[in-house]
Amino acid sequence: MNSTETRPPVRTVTSTQSEMTEIILPNDTNILGNLLGGRLMHFIDLTGAMAAYRHARTHVVTAAMDHIDFIRPVHLGDLVTLKSSVNRAFTTSMEVGVKVWAENTRTGSVVHVASAYLVFVAVDEMGRLQKVPQLQPETPDEIRRYADALRRREHREAESARRKEARLAVSALEEAAANKHG
Ligand SMILES: CC(C)(COP(=O)(O)OP(=O)(O)OC[C@H]1O[C@@H](n2cnc3c(N)ncnc32)[C@H](O)[C@@H]1OP(=O)(O)O)[C@@H](O)C(=O)NCCC(=O)NCCS
Repeated sequence: MNSTETRPPVRTVTSTQSEMTEIILPNDTNILGNLLGGRLMHFIDLTGAMAAYRHARTHVVTAAMDHIDFIRPVHLGDLVTLKSSVNRAFTTSMEVGVKVWAENTRTGSVVHVASAYLVFVAVDEMGRLQKVPQLQPETPDEIRRYADALRRREHREAESARRKEARLAVSALEEAAANKHG
């Protein structure tokens, strides 16, 4: 890592909170008039990045969008509001949670439609990894999300190691088959 070794100051979850509202237009929807999943993922990525920027105060890249639940469809003309905050900061990465609501503009009813967890990594303008400030959870909810974020990181790492092993096993089988037939 090329960042300076001194870690930046600690930040609160509140200081990372971010929000975005979009109106759903015909270009955002499928032929049933519902918001496209990929379009919603784009909004989630942007809102997640806002929280990560507020925490890191440097460039960030999306490393993973590792969990997303599409709970209910969003309809043409709805207002979609996304809220994000950093759940936990590690060394150069941060887990961000994003929650999404849809508002029916005629009735005013608001429903929770999606939630996601993303990992952003802080980099400088040359793409070199940067250390991020630690996060200080304050409320009971923030403390719970902080603990859960560590469990998800451990799960991600275990899953990534399992996939790597599976890829190596497939490569070894392919190589053995090629040698047998060659
Ligand atoms: C994300 C990226 C910078 C990581 O670089 P790397 O050289 O693999 O870095 P390392 O393996 O040293 O990991 C650096 C940090 O990223 C985290 N990380 C790397 N890959 C990850 C993944 N797939 N999921 C979650 N975290 C990940 C590591 O846990 C580590 O976190 P820590 O420093 O807090 O412990 C690099 O893979 C990258 O540039 N990816 C493309 C990003 C991109 O283009 N995104 C879409 C557009 S924004």
